[in-house]
Amino acid sequence: MFQGLHFLPEQASTMASKVDALFFFLVAVTVFFATLIFLLVIIFAVKYRRRSEAERPAAIHGSMILEMLWSVIPLAIALTIFAWGATLYFRMSRPPQSSLEVFVVAKQWMWRFQHPGGQRELNELHVPVGRPIKMTMTSEDTIHSFFVPAFRVKMDVLPGKYTTAWFEPTKPGQYHLFCAEYCGTSHSQMGGWVTVMEPAEYEQWLAGGKPGETLVAAGERMFQRLGCQACHLKEGSGRAPTLVGIYGKQVELSTGQRLIADDGYVRESILNPQAKLVAGYPPIMPTFKGLVNEEQIQQLLAYIKSLRVEEKAQAKP
Ligand code: CUA
Repeated sequence: MFQGLHFLPEQASTMASKVDALFFFLVAVTVFFATLIFLLVIIFAVKYRRRSEAERPAAIHGSMILEMLWSVIPLAIALTIFAWGATLYFRMSRPPQSSLEVFVVAKQWMWRFQHPGGQRELNELHVPVGRPIKMTMTSEDTIHSFFVPAFRVKMDVLPGKYTTAWFEPTKPGQYHLFCAEYCGTSHSQMGGWVTVMEPAEYEQWLAGGKPGETLVAAGERMFQRLGCQACHLKEGSGRAPTLVGIYGKQVELSTGQRLIADDGYVRESILNPQAKLVAGYPPIMPTFKGLVNEEQIQQLLAYIKSLRVEEKAQAKP
């Protein structure tokens, strides 16, 4: 009778059971103390009720042991929840190095996905089972939120900024994808499906799609079309810093500040080049705002990342 009724969604990622364990712990602690307090209220109300008009209870001068206990026990429980939650949080916010990267653009009211191989999808995402999937996400308009209950993954998707989330599916199947942030009229319809496939099946799916350009190739074409290579020479003697090997490295800015050239920095430098100038270079780069959309920026990003790989390959004899 209750077959279709689940207290929690299916557990279909490596994180799901861990999140549920913490959740059940919180529920158990809450139920235990709520019950304890309710029972004591009733027991004490009966036990210590006033029996006659003349009754005067004895004065109480406190109990050290009792006060210690009701301070130390809740402290220990609270710190357990903190440590447990923080551990899970750090795990969830750090995608494994071996992750398969998928780029996500949300807009009213759809989800667009780009795979490294160039496959594009709308409101559907195909991934292999047993591999961590890292998503780099941004929005073209308002705030959305990527939510797949079966994977216990939920992350806000913001305009003007990248956020990341990752999951490792453990079971092939179809899982519902939701937008979990109210984003306008059709918010409730902004959903889709994540299809988790066996690796072989996934390879077939990859090959079966339109054999389009890879993200790196599309990014390279975009790089040429926008004329980026006129200043960002590969050899590094141009009017702008070379981009070879820049990704993931530390950059010194004209302000003396240092930062790591990550996805967000590269994106900002394309749209707002003067914001964080590299030390030693004049502020001559024009903005590309309006000339490239979020998907094209992701392609450029993939290309710039690939320049690192190329350099490493060349460094080997
Ligand atoms: Cu997008 Cu709600």
